Amino acid sequence: MKILITGVSGGIGLYLVRAFRGEEVWGLARRNPPAKVCSNFSACDVSQWRAVEGVATEVRATWKHLDAIIHCAGTQGAVGEAMTVDPTEWANTVRSNIEGAYFILRAFFPLLGSTQSRSKVILFSGGGASKPRPNFSAYGCAKTALVRLVETLAEEWKQFPIDINIVAPGAINTAMTREVISLGPAKSGREEYARATKQLDSGGDSIENVEVMIRFLLSRQSDGITGRFLSAQWDRIEQLLPARDSLAMSDLYTLRRVASEACKADASPTNHARLDASLTRSHGIAVNESFCHCWLRTHRT
Ligand SMILES: NC(=O)c1ccc[n+]([C@@H]2O[C@H](COP(=O)([O-])OP(=O)(O)OC[C@H]3O[C@@H](n4cnc5c(N)ncnc54)[C@H](OP(=O)(O)O)[C@@H]3O)[C@@H](O)[C@H]2O)c1
Repeated sequence: MKILITGVSGGIGLYLVRAFRGEEVWGLARRNPPAKVCSNFSACDVSQWRAVEGVATEVRATWKHLDAIIHCAGTQGAVGEAMTVDPTEWANTVRSNIEGAYFILRAFFPLLGSTQSRSKVILFSGGGASKPRPNFSAYGCAKTALVRLVETLAEEWKQFPIDINIVAPGAINTAMTREVISLGPAKSGREEYARATKQLDSGGDSIENVEVMIRFLLSRQSDGITGRFLSAQWDRIEQLLPARDSLAMSDLYTLRRVASEACKADASPTNHARLDASLTRSHGIAVNESFCHCWLRTHRT
């Protein structure tokens, strides 16, 4: 496979580039990865259109097509209460995360969808997209926007052999975790600071689960699953597979306005469990409570 991976100088991107050592990987980041871990590497700030366009030209000169894009590059940026952080820094955080993803897709789209098998695009969300995360408003807003970008592109690309999905990796110990701690409770917030400290000590969520989800989304098994916001820690492939063909007709694994009459009438955990059981029966999919807003039946306005 020919895979473009962004954010390969650290964290999840570096882990993935190592995991896909047997494939042809073109890595991007501003800093070099620690060792020669990918077949090709270009230093690039993904939030700069001209730079991304330049790398796309470079890649096109070598590779005629791409089988997959895994966009890991992202930054927490302006951390602190929204009404106290520097406005320019806040705006730059939102902009660089959204523009970075958009620029990568915009520049590399012509290389996708030109082979026999479907091309795969995977972005990363989480960190404030599935629920509010005080003190991380800029990052959370950007990560939520990326979910909507993915879903919109899945609609626009219906006629193309491309699947695009976005993954919440879980709480993975990386530089982002260490940043939350080094910023301290005053900026990160007491709860986030305590959670990150505990996470660093305990080892955090499983990065192997992230790899399993990414491998599934790159595989032909996932063909047709597109426009979904998936959790690497909570969503099970054996539950996704039977629902694969019906997912396109459902709101499962998407962001929707929650206004379920059943839920409004009774928002107790017992009712959540009942709704969960009923969805498990009808869709063969089990969901955890923190992702309930992604699956509850909704009224669209
Ligand atoms: N770790 C978690 O628990 C967690 C949870 C939810 C979501 N995520 C998401 O998962 C993805 C990977 O996160 P991570 O934890 O691995 O983060 P990380 O350890 O901080 O690594 C981020 C990577 O992105 C690159 N990057 C950042 N801004 C860039 C830019 N403008 N241009 C090019 N490269 C850039 C960094 O490289 P350079 O600095 O060298 O450019 C680095 O390689 C991110 O999208 C993050 O939002 C992570």
